[in-house]
Amino acid sequence: MQVDSGVDAERMEGRVRLTTEAPGAVTGRVRFVPTLNAGSGEVMGFHRHLLADRVRTGTFIEAVRQAVQPADFVVDLGTGTGLLAVAAAQAGAATVIGIERTAVANQARALAAANNVQVKVVQCASDDVRLPRIFDVLVSECLGLAGLGGAMIGAVKRARDLWLKPGGVVIPRRVRVFAAPVEDPEADALVHCWDGVRVAGVRLDVLGAHVGHNLYIGSFTDHHLLAPPVEACVTDLQVGPLDDAVTGGATATTTRSGTLHGWALWFEADLADGLVLRTGPLDAPTVWEQCFAPVPARRVGAGTPIGLTLRVRGRGPRPPPGAARRAGGGGAFFPPAPPPGGGRGHANRPHPPVPRPPRRPRPPAPRRRGSVDRLGHRH
Ligand SMILES: C[S@@+](CC[C@H](N)C(=O)[O-])C[C@H]1O[C@@H](n2cnc3c(N)ncnc32)[C@H](O)[C@@H]1O
Repeated sequence: MQVDSGVDAERMEGRVRLTTEAPGAVTGRVRFVPTLNAGSGEVMGFHRHLLADRVRTGTFIEAVRQAVQPADFVVDLGTGTGLLAVAAAQAGAATVIGIERTAVANQARALAAANNVQVKVVQCASDDVRLPRIFDVLVSECLGLAGLGGAMIGAVKRARDLWLKPGGVVIPRRVRVFAAPVEDPEADALVHCWDGVRVAGVRLDVLGAHVGHNLYIGSFTDHHLLAPPVEACVTDLQVGPLDDAVTGGATATTTRSGTLHGWALWFEADLADGLVLRTGPLDAPTVWEQCFAPVPARRVGAGTPIGLTLRVRGRGPRPPPGAARRAGGGGAFFPPAPPPGGGRGHANRPHPPVPRPPRRPRPPAPRRRGSVDRLGHRH
């Protein structure tokens, strides 16, 4: 992503993921520490964090209830703990399939069973799944940093083109990214935390050389904004192109003087008719908070136009997996069958052996004069 003039930052190239832990998990007398996890760590960390966000979870569930008609076929891409899939089943869907690439898929199965609904949970990356039919509703909580971070939007678009019937519903249908230039000395201080730092006489300044290219997560208020928010880009999951690259930009004009420290970025996602998930500085707090993209600090007066360009690199074209698999799919559900003679399922399927040329014995390396061996002996 490129932010403001002169700051070239590949900050959101589809790799930035939300990594914050649940607030309750990192504070308090008893706390969950991911590195000590010996069981269902994801449920106590990442997913607890997500499920605790009532705005996020509540708005998605409402959208599912609004979209799902009795007897619909629904697929939940990235089902996680299975909550949205369960909501779809409760709304009367005939078939609900939850796809989850991690072992939290087991928790989703348990959640469905405990709530007395039928959800078929497949543990697999969506690109590796084949489905025998087309669906009425594709739901996915696929929203990363500033709405576009992570790799799920591309996965949702590929799934849409393969699995959704014409006129089917995608949740979310559209993501709009907003931005505002901000004055925030605290955020700026974080970015410059290495400036002038010495430890035991060792200068650490150089560690800060690239941190201005990071995206940070933070919460802003209208007090930080130097200008009213501007829409920076839109991505359409319902009808937009398969390519998940996004470019956009905007110019914000300051309404007061101050020091520009960077841009706050956030998103609004249209989940269903009249149902918008908002994550801006003036909205109710969510797990996403806002992003902070630093720029070199500079004073600006009121009425100054400040430009932003936003470029999220796509992940490039992929072979359309479902197309080939569908053709020879034979109606089987889900992950491709293990190779003949082995494999316990897709996730554990070994790669086919790669033919290698026969090894030639290596001639002994000539001993160099004056060389030192690993024991420190000079030869
Ligand atoms: C943000 S979480 C949402 C979980 C759940 N749907 C919810 O709303 O609470 C996204 C989930 O999608 C899974 N995931 C991400 N990309 C995936 C893919 N391509 N195929 C299957 N699962 C994926 C992640 O492991 C994670 O559990």
